[in-house]
Amino acid sequence: MLATGSALEFRDVVRSFPQRGGADLVAITDITFAVRSKEFVAIVGPSGCGKSTILNLTAGLDQPTAGSVHVSGEQVKGPNAHVGFMLQKDLLLPWRSIVRNVEFGLEARPVSRKERRERALSELQRCKLEAFANHYPYQLSGGMRQRAALARTLAIRPDIVLLDEPFSALDAQTKMLLQKSFGQTIAESGVTTLLITHDLAEAVAMSDRILVMSDRPGRLIEEIHVDLPDRNNPIARRSHPRAGQLITRLFELLKLDERVA
Ligand SMILES: Nc1ncnc2c1ncn2[C@@H]1O[C@H](COP(=O)(O)OP(=O)(O)OP(=O)(O)O)[C@@H](O)[C@H]1O
Ligand SMILES: [Mg+2]
Repeated sequence: MLATGSALEFRDVVRSFPQRGGADLVAITDITFAVRSKEFVAIVGPSGCGKSTILNLTAGLDQPTAGSVHVSGEQVKGPNAHVGFMLQKDLLLPWRSIVRNVEFGLEARPVSRKERRERALSELQRCKLEAFANHYPYQLSGGMRQRAALARTLAIRPDIVLLDEPFSALDAQTKMLLQKSFGQTIAESGVTTLLITHDLAEAVAMSDRILVMSDRPGRLIEEIHVDLPDRNNPIARRSHPRAGQLITRLFELLKLDERVA
């Protein structure tokens, strides 16, 4: 039985894709889970198991073949303002300044020009980028660009933020610093978060709960509660004595010692 009042619910979701001249490809099946408001949930699983499919369904960019997806109690029928989506590539528009990039998502909404600017600047401040508001994307480092992309995602004031491998293109140290700044910004803004990552230490460092998926057709095989303190300080969490045990458990569930790249 699912909790009522969840920020997000998947109920018996299946997504299969027709294939030319063959049986349908079942990407995910039997997916049922709920996410509480303000909870931070990570999803890990082998490549091709349907992680991005879950995010696309949450964002309303795709529809389930069977079952249903509910955001804030309403069934998702298409893209909507409750959900903000951030991809691995920052997708900042090179010809717009950073503040105008952050404003971009608000332009299609009934928000005045003045309020648009105020919101964009306050999100930039929260992401510690206010000094770069008038810079252009090419003038920012990779980590700063990802922070700007997060500011843009938060500026629409979504209930849920979807992060699809947001740090995977960055070097190891930038990645850790960015996990910390995302952790703080997300905790401050009070959004519900769904993070996809291949980095098991990142999942443990950042989330309240980790959903582990099987190979395709992707199913949920385990749910791990990350009972560590300091969710908004991923760097501190990494050195917590229990962090290593949780990572080892994920490693076993994903059978990493039996796989080849
Ligand atoms: N629009 C589509 N049409 C056909 N097949 C698709 C489509 N989208 C996804 N798939 C297939 O569904 C499966 C799951 O894809 P998905 O991108 O969700 O996996 P993933 O877990 O995000 O993988 P990765 O870790 O490599 O990003 C894959 O086999 C993929 O080829
Ligand atoms: Mg993916």
